Amino acid sequence: MKFYENIVGFYDDMTRFSYRIEKEKPVFQNLVKKHNIKTALDVACGTGLHTILLNELGVSATGVDNSPEMLNRAETNARKRGLDLTFINLAMQELDGNINEKFDAVFCLGNSLPHLRDTVALNDAVSQFSGMLHKGGTVFLQILNYDKILATQNRIVNINYSNNYEFIRFYDFLDHKIRFNLLVIKKENDKVEHSLNSTELVPYLRDDITRILQNNNFNNIQTFADLRGNPFRQHTSDNLVITAIKS
Ligand SMILES: C[S@@+](CC[C@H](N)C(=O)[O-])C[C@H]1O[C@@H](n2cnc3c(N)ncnc32)[C@H](O)[C@@H]1O
Repeated sequence: MKFYENIVGFYDDMTRFSYRIEKEKPVFQNLVKKHNIKTALDVACGTGLHTILLNELGVSATGVDNSPEMLNRAETNARKRGLDLTFINLAMQELDGNINEKFDAVFCLGNSLPHLRDTVALNDAVSQFSGMLHKGGTVFLQILNYDKILATQNRIVNINYSNNYEFIRFYDFLDHKIRFNLLVIKKENDKVEHSLNSTELVPYLRDDITRILQNNNFNNIQTFADLRGNPFRQHTSDNLVITAIKS
């Protein structure tokens, strides 16, 4: 995807890879223990944060993503941490037939599902997640809480800084989609450069995803505000985490 190809150079700085991998590790340690996860598939793994983190926790985790540029960075990130991991260049709708193994858990985190263009594509992906799991395995999905985003119509997502970069994330609200824009301002001495990259997202709601999970052989569907298991509140939570068990 052109969007990620364009932003891969500063993606890890912007999303604070080094800080998050340490901060999130205890959260994943609890999940691994609670759900008895020995093998995992990290779908839309990006630059490998969760694939690497899970391997560091002793889980045999494989990362897949459809951006070769993000995967190159993931391999470099793994090597820097002393891991020799294989990442696979695959779209989340193409897992079946390309991965001939079943896992204890499938993760699709970091608001990746809204890149799928409609509920047909979302259904395809969720059906593939089911196919990748052992019976009784767990799927973990994390997206932004679009119930809140659509209700508030707040266009500025956030502004953050790293070294001489400023990252301004903002939305355009379209008819049935949201354009996500990333304005990067690079300041060096007296020189200021701007670059803008955008991608369209589908604002899937809790009820859309829950219905699709039900239609694809999942039960015990639970919603949370985060991976720590805090309760999800439709009007106030920033994130939506859904877990479900393959029947
Ligand atoms: C916001 S990043 C999240 C990366 C990572 N999961 C994280 O939490 O940091 C979204 C990722 O989804 C990937 N992606 C988008 N559409 C995809 C698809 N159809 N199949 C697989 N990966 C996809 C992009 O290449 C990108 O790496």
